[in-house]
Amino acid sequence: MKRKIVSVLVCAAMVATMAVGCGSSSDTADTSADAAATEDAADDAAATEDAAADDAAAADDAAATGDVITVGFAQVGHESDWRTASTQSCQDVFSAENGYDLQFVDCDNDSAVQLEAVRGFIEQDVDYIIIDPIVSTGWDTVLTECEDAGIPVIVIDRTIDDSDKYVSWVGSEFKTEGLAAGEWLKAYAEAKGITELNILVIEGSTGASATIGRTDGFKEIADREGWNIIDSQTGDFTQEGGQTVMESYCKSYEGQFNVVICQNDNEAFGAMDAMTAAGVSYGVDGDVILVSFDGCRTALDYCLAGDINAVFECNPMAAPMVEEVIQALEAGETPEAEIYVEESCFANEDIVPTIEVNGESKEMTVVTQELIDARPF
Ligand code: AHR
Repeated sequence: MKRKIVSVLVCAAMVATMAVGCGSSSDTADTSADAAATEDAADDAAATEDAAADDAAAADDAAATGDVITVGFAQVGHESDWRTASTQSCQDVFSAENGYDLQFVDCDNDSAVQLEAVRGFIEQDVDYIIIDPIVSTGWDTVLTECEDAGIPVIVIDRTIDDSDKYVSWVGSEFKTEGLAAGEWLKAYAEAKGITELNILVIEGSTGASATIGRTDGFKEIADREGWNIIDSQTGDFTQEGGQTVMESYCKSYEGQFNVVICQNDNEAFGAMDAMTAAGVSYGVDGDVILVSFDGCRTALDYCLAGDINAVFECNPMAAPMVEEVIQALEAGETPEAEIYVEESCFANEDIVPTIEVNGESKEMTVVTQELIDARPF
């Protein structure tokens, strides 16, 4: 906290000094009111430019003197629209203007690269390390190294399941998302009079807690209801992966399925292309019920158009809450160990108003253009 305040004060002092200097030179140079006004306007523009340059210079100065907070972020990769939104959220929050020096590594969905990135941050002696773990296991050794180096680790989005050597985790309830999808499908099928569900699942990346949670949650409902899950294969959370898996499903299970569950939006986009190419109709007026997770704007566009029946949100805007954790640590406070982001459920039709998940009622929000326009991701 102290370091951030110092850097902001340095910046403000530099801008104030610059403004005083500009004002005094124009006051003494001209006596004509017009000339003074013209010069004042030019001075204003110059002052604005100077202030921006000063902000950047202050951030550089602060970095040089150790006044900024240095944060290393080992991001999963760039596999999906959700991931792009998550990266943007972190870059916006941990900006030089906000008093941070963000060291960002895109690990391209490679766990070995991610471990190396964390070790690189230890070598750089950053103040904090943020990890979005590609897979949920294999973390204890490197987290022990972070602990030994005295660098607090904050986990974002996906969970680490085989070590507790981190300060806080901020993210989504993946199993709840899967349960919600299952409960919605049950209520939707009943409302539509569909008695038999033959389901294909396109999973996310193998070993990711997002995949594990969504799979477990949905399967719990499927087992309880006696649904037939015909097949479940990974599409690696990518559009290409979703398309490839769906192409193969369309060949292997032609005419045998009426539900496709895609564990993220981009897989759903790929699955839609594959089904269109195979002559399979999907969505509200189609033969196949299509479900997706994430809820990025493009997916909600498709939901509004009736191509995707329902979308279960995974909220990528977790960085502000990670910053709160860091600021609590800077202030010598103990942050919450687990912080959940808020998430909604969306559908095209208004026939299932609420679902019950974990004993709680959850609203199914009908997608509108207004809702999409107001969405931050
Ligand atoms: O971990 C979150 C998941 O990873 C999102 O559902 C997916 O889109 C992303 O790639």
